[in-house]
Amino acid sequence: MKIVSPSILSADFLNFQKEIESFKNEKNLWFHLDVMDGHYVPNLTFGKTILKDLHKITNHKLDAHFMVTNPEDYIEQFKDIGIYNFSFHWETCDDHLAMIKRIKEHYPSVGLVLHPSTDCKDIPLEVIKEVNLILVMSVNPGFGGQSFMTNSLDKIKYFDEIRKKENLNFVIQVDGGINEQTAKDVINAGVDNLVAGSFIFKSDNYSDAIKKLR
Ligand code: DX5
Ligand code: ZN
Repeated sequence: MKIVSPSILSADFLNFQKEIESFKNEKNLWFHLDVMDGHYVPNLTFGKTILKDLHKITNHKLDAHFMVTNPEDYIEQFKDIGIYNFSFHWETCDDHLAMIKRIKEHYPSVGLVLHPSTDCKDIPLEVIKEVNLILVMSVNPGFGGQSFMTNSLDKIKYFDEIRKKENLNFVIQVDGGINEQTAKDVINAGVDNLVAGSFIFKSDNYSDAIKKLR
C-alpha cells in the first residue's frame, strides 16, 4: 500500500490537535512537516517550538522536509522530538556524504530532496546508495496549492530504474500538486510515498481523499 503523507502546511492551525487526531485510524500514513527558513525559500513556517509536542499526540511517523539554507544547523536542534525522517535539499549542501552520515546518527531515516531545477543525473550513485528516501519536488518549494510540474515524472522513473538495477530499497516520495489525477501518474512512474497538502486538507473527508490518492 502506498504511503500518504499529509502536509500539515495546509492544516487549520487554530484547530491543530483536532486536525492531527483526525488521521488517528489511518494506516501507512506519515505527517509531512515543511520547515522553511524564509531564506532558501520565500516563506517562513514553523520550527521546533511549534513541532516539539506533535509526537505526543500521534503514533504516525514524522517526516521533516527542511527547506533551509543550512540544514546542518537543524540536525542537533530537532533530534529529540520524535522525527522519523530528516530530508534536506541537494542544492543546500556541499559534502552530501558527510551530511547523510551526521543525520544517520540521530534519525532512523535520511531523505535527499531534488529541487525541480536539479538534474537527477547530478546525484552520484554513491550518494543514492546511502539515503533511505529520495524526494522529487513537483513544484517550486515554498508554498502549498501550486500546480504539478510534469517533468518530475521522468525523474521518478529514473530513480525507480536505478533502484531496480542496483537492487536498492530507498523510498521514492513526491511533493507538490498531488491530487487524484497526478497521483495516478506518479504511482505509474514508481512513487511509493505521496505528499499532499491542499488536496487532503481542502477536502470534506480526509479519509476519502487519502483513498482517492492511493
Ligand atoms: C511545498 C511543500 C509541500 C506543500 C505541498 O514547498 O514542500 O509539502 O505543502 O502542498 P500541495 O499538496 O498543496 O501542493
Ligand atoms: Zn514538503
